[in-house]
Formats: sequence, structure tokens, C-alpha cells
Amino acid sequence: MTDRKRVFSGIQPTGDPHVGSLIGALSNWVRMQSEYDTIYCVVDLHAMTAPYDPADLRSKRADVAKMLLAAGIDPSRSLLYYQSEVPQHVELSWILGTLTGLGQLERMTQFKEKADKGGQNLGLLAYPVLQAADILIHRVHAVPVGNDQAQHLELTRDLAERFNSRFGEVFPVPERITPEIGARVMSLTDPTSKMSKSDPSSKSRILLTDGTDQIMKKVKSAVTDTGTEVGFDRANKPGISNLLEMFSFFSDRSIDDLVSEYRALGYGTFKIAVGEAVAEGLKPIRDAYEGMSDAEVGEVMASSAARARKMAERTMISVRERVGLA
Ligand code: AMP
Ligand code: TRP
Repeated sequence: MTDRKRVFSGIQPTGDPHVGSLIGALSNWVRMQSEYDTIYCVVDLHAMTAPYDPADLRSKRADVAKMLLAAGIDPSRSLLYYQSEVPQHVELSWILGTLTGLGQLERMTQFKEKADKGGQNLGLLAYPVLQAADILIHRVHAVPVGNDQAQHLELTRDLAERFNSRFGEVFPVPERITPEIGARVMSLTDPTSKMSKSDPSSKSRILLTDGTDQIMKKVKSAVTDTGTEVGFDRANKPGISNLLEMFSFFSDRSIDDLVSEYRALGYGTFKIAVGEAVAEGLKPIRDAYEGMSDAEVGEVMASSAARARKMAERTMISVRERVGLA
């Protein structure tokens, strides 16, 4: 790797990636490849902190990996691997765990939310420590994540500082990068809440694997606002505004430009145009996804993991020395 800045991000192999994941996360990951040394991880160990089925985990992590490749993660420019295939993540996580107070973990919003839903376990409590290890093991400078991950990144920064001051400088303290655009794609059935993998209604989201017919149906049935005029106003026209943002992303046109063309044409005509733009924009990703074999994905993941293990081992050699294990 070069002396460019290094970034790391992770995605859980739970649920199916949708246009929210693409606009809010994956498209940024793809774009960052030209500016940074990029390391992306399918965090299968994190996915085990909620109830799961082994066969499902196996197929989900391969699906997500394939989707990342189809969306434009380029293995000649990025490392892309399964977290569990680089055991140094877990080793570092243990050591960082010995520097983490229980109170700090118990106060994490995500822990409280998930623990409230039942199924508390040590993995769920330790989740942010493993996330810190994911980031620190590669000594990265920055982490592109949404606002919901701010607390976890704060813990990561604390742990880097705590380790460095106790044992000597090993880790850069990583910055958070939050994408400016498309930070929140809203649900098609309720434009006041975020499009989400876990929404029980499949009509609330457009999957990256949806075909043109499904996309057109979902967009046509999207909840819109009272009135007839197409305009951008997130507070009073959340449904139309959400569709405008998606339209802008997929058509590469500005919202103003779209509003001036569609203002007076009515919601029906507008929705057809949005559906067509989304379908057309997703087609190359869907085609790449469908054209890729599981074997190809497996090879990319294995060779990336081998490189990641070498990098991670370099960090662990200094960590073990510093903490008295070597
Ligand atoms: P999740 O789907 O919750 O596992 O999130 C994976 C990544 O996609 C995270 O970085 C999220 O911030 C991003 N993401 C998920 N849903 C949306 C959405 N509706 N709008 C924007 N970004 C999203
Ligand atoms: N917790 C993150 C999420 O739910 C996923 C994740 C795990 C991650 N390890 C990471 C993100 C390291 C960024 C960096 O979205």
C-alpha cells in the first residue's frame, strides 16, 4: 500500500442491501477508492451478536460480499474480506477489552436498544470493542460511517489514546467521515423514518437486486404528500423530497433541475420517471451481481484476507511487545 491516508469501514451481513445502503454507504466506499487506501470488511462476527441461523449467515456474508463487488469495490484497489478470516481482530479486541470500563459499554445507545429487545449476551456488550479492534488493527486514519456509529467511533478514539498513553504510541486516533449527501434515505411506506433492512414491509425499500418491475411497483406505491406540485421540502413534503433525492442520485441531475422539469406534471408522471431512473441506475449493479460466480467471490475474499492478515500481524507484533506478551 502507498502512503495515502488509510480508511476502514465495515458492514454487517444481515438483511439485504437496499438503495439506502447504496446511497448512504456503499457509493461513498466506492468513491473513496480513488483518494485513500481503502479496507472494507464484512463483519460476520458482529452479525453473531443477534440471533442467527448458521446456513443463513454463510449465504448472507457471501451475498453481501458479492454485492459490494458488484457495486464497484475493486479488489485491485481495496482490501475486502470477512472479519472472521483475520483472527488478529479478535486478539486485539481482547486486549482492548482489558482497557474498557463496563460502564462505558453499558451506556452505549445501540447496546441499550438491542438489550431492551431481549437476548443480552457478552458479544452484544463487547460489540463496540471488537469494532474498535477492526479499526485500530489497520492503524487507519479515518472511518466513513453514519451518525448512528458516532458513539462507537468515540470509544475507538478513547481506546487508541488509552493504549498509546499506557503502552506507547502504536495507534493513530482515527477521524470519523460522515457523507454529506444522501445521509438518510427514507422509507417508501413512511417517509418520516429511515429506509431500513429490518422494516417488516418489503415495499418500504428497494433492494439492489430488485428488477425493473418490482422497482416500478414500489415507487408507484410510495407514500406521497398532499397537494399535486412536485417540490423539495423535507418538512412538508417528505415523500416527494425523498423521491427527488433518489432521482437526483441516480440521474446525476440537480434537485432544482428535476423540480423545474416535473413541478407541474403531477405525481403520477413524476413517479414513473423516478422509477425508471432508479431501475436504470441499479441495472449495472444487478447485472454485475448476477454475472458473478460464488467461486469468484470466494477467491477475492480469500486473497484479500491473506493480505489483511499480514498487515494486521504487523500491528499485533508491536502490540504484543508493548503489553508484555512478547
Ligand atoms: P445497516 O443497513 O443499518 O447495516 O447500515 C449499513 C450502512 O448503510 C451504514 O453505514 C448506514 O449508515 C447506511 N444506511 C443504511 N440505511 C440507510 C438509509 N436509509 N439512508 C442512508 N444510509 C443508510
Ligand atoms: N457497527 C457497524 C454497523 O452496524 C459495522 C462495523 C463493524 C463497522 N466494525 C466496523 C463500521 C468498523 C465501521 C468500522 O454499521
